[in-house]
Amino acid sequence: MKGSPELIATLNQLLAEELTAINQYMVHAEMCENWGYDKLHAAVRRRAIVEMKHAETIIGRILSLEGTPIVSELKKLHIGADVRAQIANDLQAEREGVVAYNEAIRQAVALQDNVTRALLLSILKDEDAHADELERYHAQIEQMGYETFLSTQL
Ligand SMILES: [Fe+2]
Ligand SMILES: [Fe+2]
Repeated sequence: MKGSPELIATLNQLLAEELTAINQYMVHAEMCENWGYDKLHAAVRRRAIVEMKHAETIIGRILSLEGTPIVSELKKLHIGADVRAQIANDLQAEREGVVAYNEAIRQAVALQDNVTRALLLSILKDEDAHADELERYHAQIEQMGYETFLSTQL
């Protein structure tokens, strides 16, 4: 079914954000592994794979709407030099994602495209969970101190 060009453009924007997140999280995951923070490595890697599934879903939907998925454009990556900065930068990305998905859902509803709306909603739930996970790390750092937090991630 042919989709509206504006909704396809929005989906391509979301796709660029997902592809950027995949790259940022993959680098963060490997940095954590390099430092020996195996638990963080596994968690961040898991998150990168979820973003890959989001990108896949969006590419599929753009094609269903007879649009062209743009996979060659990335947004600016925010690589953190240490774990604290990585958590802050990833949380920022997830919060921006929540805003962007809510906005895209509004657009899909306005265009009466409830299939796209449902796909976006399921992704939004994942981004919300990602933001929660990162907020939990942030709270733990505040409460137990940075070094103690790091010692729980070995
Ligand atoms: Fe995502
Ligand atoms: Fe996410």
